[in-house]
Amino acid sequence: MFKKASLVAFASAAALLLAGCGDDSDDTASPGSSSAAGGGGGGSSEQITLGFAQVGAESGWRTANTDSIKKSAEEAGIELQFSDAQQKQENQIRAIRSFIQQKVDVIAFSPVIESGWDAVLNEAKRANIPVILTDRAVDSEDTSLYKTFLGSDFVLEGQKAGEWLKEEYADEAGPVNIVELQGTTGAAPAIDRQQGFADAIAGESKFKMIASQTGDFTRAGGKQVMEAFLQAHKDIDVLYAHNDDMGLGAIEAIEAAGLTPGEDIKIITVDAVKDGMQALADGKINFIVECNPLLGPQLMDAVKKVVAGEEIPPRIETEETTFTQEQAKAALPTRQY
Ligand code: AHR
Repeated sequence: MFKKASLVAFASAAALLLAGCGDDSDDTASPGSSSAAGGGGGGSSEQITLGFAQVGAESGWRTANTDSIKKSAEEAGIELQFSDAQQKQENQIRAIRSFIQQKVDVIAFSPVIESGWDAVLNEAKRANIPVILTDRAVDSEDTSLYKTFLGSDFVLEGQKAGEWLKEEYADEAGPVNIVELQGTTGAAPAIDRQQGFADAIAGESKFKMIASQTGDFTRAGGKQVMEAFLQAHKDIDVLYAHNDDMGLGAIEAIEAAGLTPGEDIKIITVDAVKDGMQALADGKINFIVECNPLLGPQLMDAVKKVVAGEEIPPRIETEETTFTQEQAKAALPTRQY
């Protein structure tokens, strides 16, 4: 572990010694940078410890995200303390408190929901442990509680879904009845994807949102809520699901009801994980907005910079695209996750 101030003198001495020996061993902090404690020890080779509090294992996206973080930490030579909150905020808060007690060098986490983080983030700040938000944001007004946010523009993702729908129904008078499977209530991607989609279709009165409910980002949740939607509404034209997994669960419910997904009910989802892309290529989903889970390399880079005391941008966004059925067929053979 990186015992900040107390190691500054040691780091300087070690750097001198290594330089004297002509040693070119790999450093975990950027060359020539100072430590997070502000000391002047260039070329430090201390082990960086990162505490990462993950949301859970609710979806294919999350599994790919966890794999990316674990693999990248190993490749970067960063010691990873990993905790799975099983989609419960109280578990994440407990994990962050434990990281503070262990005096890790950096804490990173993907907040289950947006609100309720100020107290624990203030504890990290008082302990002088920098925090990086990955994937999901917090709604705190105090931006000094974290160094950066690394992830997607979820509002834009919702807008892309809505724009596709407008194009798809450009020549039809409507009404177009839409049902929505929301992500976890209070989570940034659920709030923002709903907002972005609603904004995109707002100007056209033919689009009717007839039901909207959370499926908690899980396949089981998507299936269960879609079953209820199908029982309550006989005239569903479109399903907008906030992730692939809920869309895949809904497909099971639609097929069980004797309907053809992708035809009787058009389906738009977000993520573009392999299972979703396969369903898109098979014609069961009509359009997917990509959300990139491979945040590990950028996170490790940010961790090293923060430990080295370097400035990093307050927001680092990932690049993302969208997929039609034809594009999914072309992309599937080389899809990593
Ligand atoms: O926060 C990202 C979202 O969380 C993904 O879209 C979803 O699949 C996951 O559970």
